[in-house]
Amino acid sequence: MVAAAVTLLSGCQRVSFDPRPTADIAPERLFMFTAVQAPAPATGLSAMRVDLGRRLFYDTHLSVNNSVSCDTCHKLTAYGVDPGKSVSTGHDKKPGGRNSPTVYNAGLQFVQFWDGRAATLAEQAAGPMMNPVEMGMPSPEAVVAYLHSTPDYKKQFQQAYPGARDPVVMDNVTDAIADFESGLITPARWDQYLQGDTNALSNEEKRGLRVFLRSGCASCHAGKGLGGNSYQKLGAYRDWPDRTTDLGRMAVTHNPADLLYFKVPLLRNVTETGPWFHDGRVKTIDEAVRLMERYQTGRRLSENDVRSIVAFLGSLKGEIPQQYIQPPSAKAPPIRTALTPGTSRQQLALVDLNPSKEGQ
Ligand code: HEC
Ligand code: HEC
Repeated sequence: MVAAAVTLLSGCQRVSFDPRPTADIAPERLFMFTAVQAPAPATGLSAMRVDLGRRLFYDTHLSVNNSVSCDTCHKLTAYGVDPGKSVSTGHDKKPGGRNSPTVYNAGLQFVQFWDGRAATLAEQAAGPMMNPVEMGMPSPEAVVAYLHSTPDYKKQFQQAYPGARDPVVMDNVTDAIADFESGLITPARWDQYLQGDTNALSNEEKRGLRVFLRSGCASCHAGKGLGGNSYQKLGAYRDWPDRTTDLGRMAVTHNPADLLYFKVPLLRNVTETGPWFHDGRVKTIDEAVRLMERYQTGRRLSENDVRSIVAFLGSLKGEIPQQYIQPPSAKAPPIRTALTPGTSRQQLALVDLNPSKEGQ
């Protein structure tokens, strides 16, 4: 008993203070984090919904002048953001107020949007289509009318939502988009580490993990996504200078106590999703870490520490699921009648791409 306790104690110290860059932190001590896996390929009805959601995600006709799709601001080939843009611009090129967060791993979060005003991916998906500075559609009816007027869409909805008298309804639109988005998971070397492969991280990254833990970053950035589990005050340690431009959660709840509370963003792929912060004003990942140090933790980080944390954040960069995100060909939308359970996502994507070669 005593021996075990001592080991545990010295073990704890090792987690927090041992500066040796090569000392591993045993994955089982990293209980505040959870690994993710690539989701199993959808089959049957859910595969049809995923296909439909993918098509809707890429469809510019869901915007008022056919110029913008979800992919415009959440480019799936670019880690789900509009790279380099501080804030998004919508159908009329007018800037919105906030930086576009990534759609990769978004489904891991407890709520959606920087201020959490949508509870689920499906609830979120209705927002941009009717948002005047995003896709600018006049009404849900206008979206549904477009889909109704496109015969192969109708067929695809009927197949994905059989039994309904009229399956082309907004609830199914957002449901299908959410099903597609739920598959946008990007496992990374970090997950291999958590699952026991301590060689998956370089020494510099391991040092970064150590500094990350020591600095208290994990008190807000933990769980599956290293974020997305809570609202936290921007300026938790020291007042954030800009207290009026974006009120954060207070704009939703109207409770002054929520001023500058934001949903803690995910850190998966964060090295790829700049510029950073809700307003995209932070141009480098080093600066983002420095601001966290100053305003969220109050710990002093050396240049070396910042470099190591950034290296560690790099280990959270996952693989883009290239097959899964293949846009359906505009000429030959993926309509399938027979889907055998167990058809792999790769096979499905090939079917999408080469409908003529499928031979069905
Ligand atoms: C004009 C650019 C633009 C378009 C088009 C757009 N989005 Fe977004 N999206 C944003 C911005 C900006 C935010 C953050 C807004 C906020 O938090 O207030 C956002 C937030 C999100 C989120 C929440 C992510 C998170 O971490 O909180 C998801 C999911 C999402 N969008 C999916 C979609 C889908 C699905 C579509 C198409 C139906 C779409 N977006 C169209 C810019 C856009
Ligand atoms: C008290 C909670 C808290 C702590 C501690 C904290 N963060 Fe954050 N972090 C946040 C919040 C909230 C945001 C969103 C800020 C915004 O956009 O306005 C954020 C944003 C970030 C971003 C930018 C993400 C993006 O997509 O724009 C990075 C990178 C980051 N944190 C890393 C860290 C690191 C590294 C540490 C430790 C030094 C840390 N954080 C400590 C709450 C915290």
